[in-house]
This record gives sequence, structure tokens and C-alpha cells, in this order.
Amino acid sequence: MKFRSLAGIFTPEKPFTDPLRNQGSAFLEVDNWILSRFVTERLLPVVGFHPFPLNELMLMTAAVCRIKPTHILEWGTNIGVSARIFHETCAAFNIAAEIHSIDLPDHESHVEHPGQERGRLVRGIARVRLHQGDGLEVALSILAADPAACRPLFFLDGDHSYDSVYRELASIVTRVPSASVLVHDTFQQSVDSGYNTGPYRAVQDVLRSTGTGLQVVSQDLGLPGMMLLWKRR
Ligand SMILES: C[S@@+](CC[C@H](N)C(=O)[O-])C[C@H]1O[C@@H](n2cnc3c(N)ncnc32)[C@H](O)[C@@H]1O
Repeated sequence: MKFRSLAGIFTPEKPFTDPLRNQGSAFLEVDNWILSRFVTERLLPVVGFHPFPLNELMLMTAAVCRIKPTHILEWGTNIGVSARIFHETCAAFNIAAEIHSIDLPDHESHVEHPGQERGRLVRGIARVRLHQGDGLEVALSILAADPAACRPLFFLDGDHSYDSVYRELASIVTRVPSASVLVHDTFQQSVDSGYNTGPYRAVQDVLRSTGTGLQVVSQDLGLPGMMLLWKRR
């Protein structure tokens, strides 16, 4: 099947080749055209661009392709948009990661708790395992049960307060030195904007206080904002 797009004609069935470039360099570099085709052909029809705009879909995809994680540990699940993004990326680029998605138990009250809608977009996908509990605790217990050399990618998208993000990120970087971490809702802006800058400040404070060698890639053109903290191997 062929259809016309603004960019011309493309064939949806065409496989995706490895988008990594200059892997020996100190920087994260991808072929943005390959990722753009993946995002427009595979992701947008399934997940749209809310809550993750195009630039954040690109960063999530690039992170998975670069890190080639053995485990993706993400919270909160909510309806499963981010879990589905990770699944589609692993499937398209042949990355054999286990995907674990965690949300709070049904009896917990959280303003964003999805209730019966939890994980709707990933139901029936065997690669994605759904859990309930505190994201950090469940994720650490999953890794402890599987102590073989692992290369985990965390995605923090649960409670967006300063305290929660600080607690989660500080624990991860001290307890899982091989971890790379994506953090959502990290748009910086000025204090005057009235935006929640808790996640941004938490990331800065953790980087300062733990002195990690993590490199930071930010998508911060506007809300909601996303950061990748990764260690070149
Ligand atoms: C912004 S939504 C996440 C959106 C989701 N990543 C998606 O792509 O659809 C925040 C979710 O985090 C969950 N949550 C909040 N605190 C949590 C915690 N400590 N552990 C696990 N999930 C948490 C909430 O119940 C809510 O479903």
C-alpha cells in the first residue's frame, strides 16, 4: 500500500534500519529521518501526539535505539501510551527488551489514576508486563530478581512533584549504576511562569548531589518537556 504524504510517497511496510550514527563519538546521534518515518508511520497512528509531542516521541525512540536496554521499567502506566511507544520501538528496531509498566494499586487515590482504563493500549501485548505498586519499589524488585548483567532504561512519569522525582531518581542513580533514565515533564521555564518545575529542579539537584557521569539530552522547547540521562558505554 502506498499513500501520499507531505514528504512525498512512502511505503509503510518498508522495514526500519538502525538509526544510530557515529557510535564511537561522545554524543548521542541518530538519523532523524529514519526516526521521523518511524514516528509518523508507526507511532502517530497508534498513540497520537498527546501527552508526548513529536520531539518527545523522537527522544524516547532514540533513547531505546541507543541504549538497547535489556529492561524498560516505566511508571505510571495510566492508559499505556508510553508503554505502547516502547513496545512499538522495540518491535520495529529488533530490540529484545522486557517492558515492565507499573501504576499504583486501585485503592490508592491519585489525581491521575486511570482506574479500569489502566494499560488499555497494551492489553494483550505479551512483551509488556503490567504491575501495580509503587513504581520505584516494584522496578527495583524486578531488577533484583534478575541480577544478570542488565542495561535498564527507566521512564519516570508518575507523580510529578519535586520530592517524588528526587526520591526516584536519586535511588536509581545510586542503586543501579548501569541505568539510563528518561524523565517526563521537565520543562524548565522561569519560576514566574507558574508551571510545575519540580521535575526539572529534582533532576538538577540529583545530578549535582550524586556527581554522576550521566550525559543529559533535553527536549525543552515547551511543555511538557523530557530529559534523557544516559551513560555512554
Ligand atoms: C501522567 S500519568 C502517566 C502517563 C502514562 N505514562 C502514559 O503514557 O499514558 C501519571 C500516572 O502515574 C501514576 N503514579 C503516580 N505515582 C505513582 C507511583 N509512585 N508509582 C507508580 N505509578 C504512579 C498515576 O496513577 C498515573 O496513572
